[in-house]
Amino acid sequence: MSSTTTSLLPRYLQQEEILAQKCKTLISSLPKENGWVASNLYKYQGFWNTPRQLQGIMTCQEHFEARDSDVFLVTTPKSGTTWLKAIMFTLMNRMQYPITQEHPLLSKNPHDLVPFLEIKLYVDNQIPDLSSLNSPRLFATHIPFFSLPKSVHDSSCKFVYLCRNPKDIFVSLWHFTNKLRLQEMGTNSLEETFDMFCRGVTIYGPYWDHVLDYWKESMENPHKVLFLKYEDMKECPIDNLRSIAEFLGCPFSNEEEESGMVEQILKLCSFDTLSNLEINRAGKLSSGEENKAFFRRGEVGDWKNHLPTEMVEKLDHITEQKFSGSGLEF
Ligand code: A3P
Repeated sequence: MSSTTTSLLPRYLQQEEILAQKCKTLISSLPKENGWVASNLYKYQGFWNTPRQLQGIMTCQEHFEARDSDVFLVTTPKSGTTWLKAIMFTLMNRMQYPITQEHPLLSKNPHDLVPFLEIKLYVDNQIPDLSSLNSPRLFATHIPFFSLPKSVHDSSCKFVYLCRNPKDIFVSLWHFTNKLRLQEMGTNSLEETFDMFCRGVTIYGPYWDHVLDYWKESMENPHKVLFLKYEDMKECPIDNLRSIAEFLGCPFSNEEEESGMVEQILKLCSFDTLSNLEINRAGKLSSGEENKAFFRRGEVGDWKNHLPTEMVEKLDHITEQKFSGSGLEF
C-alpha cells in the first residue's frame, strides 16, 4: 500500500510510514509478525505492538512525568476497559459531575473521557502538556508493567488492573479486530487468530505475561495495585465498586450509600445504558474506530458459543501452565 493510500486510512490502520525516524530504526531490528487488523506487530520489551502503539509507548516512556496522586486504569484489550473507564470516571468525578441528564458519559464515549497514555495522549509523536490537569489525574493504559515510564515506577501512584478470562478475551478480540478490518481485507479465521493468541502474538500479548506481572505486583503491593476480574465485577458489581472507591481513598459516605449512589453509578455505566446511547451507536473515536465496536454482548462465557472443545482444552491448558503456582485462576 502506498503512503498516499495509507494516509487516507483511519488512523488505527496506518502503518510504519507514519513513524518518526527513531521508531522506524528501532522496529527494523525487532521480531515481526502479521497483525490481526492491518499493521504488522513488533515485539518490544517482551510484548507485541502495532507500529503506532509502539511509538506511543516509546514517547510516553521518554516524556511522561508521573505524580504520586496519579491513578492508572490498566487492562489488556477486551478485558472490559470501556466499562471500567466509565465507572472510574463517574466515581472519581462524582462531586463535579453528579448523575444528571448533563452527565458527560451521556454525550461522550468513555474512551474520550479517560484517555489512553500511549494510544491517545502520546500517540503520533505528540507530547501533551498534562501539567494543568487537576489531581488526581486518571489515565488508562495497556502498557505492560515493566514497560511503564520510569517516572511511574518511581512514584507512589495507584493502579486498578482489570483482567478477564482468556477464552472470552480471545473471542471478544476476534470479533473486534474483524470489525476494524476494512471490508476488502476480509475477515480473519478463528483458527488462524487462535493460533496467534496461543503463541502470545496479539496486541499487548502475550496475554498471560501481561496479567501475571500486574498480579504479582498486586500481591506484593496491595496498596499500589488493585487487581480485579471482569467476571467478579459482573457477579458482584456493588462490592467491587465499593472496593475501588476505598482503594482510591474516596469511599462512599453513609449519605451517598443511603442515596443509592453506588447503584446509580452502576446503572449509568451498565452495558445496556451505554450501548444504547446515540454517541455510542453512531459516534467514532478520533483514531477512527466506531464507538459501537466497543459494545458487543458484555457477558461472561460467550466463548461457549464460539470455541470448539479442542480450542477450549488448549487454551485452558496454556492458562493452567502459565498461571501455575501464582494463585491466579480462571
Ligand atoms: P464482548 O466482546 O465479550 O461483548 P474493552 O472495553 O476492553 O475493549 O472490552 C470490550 C468488552 O467489554 C466487550 O466484550 C464489550 O461488549 C464489553 N463491555 C463494554 N461495555 C461494557 C459494560 N458497560 N459492561 C460490561 N461489559 C462491557
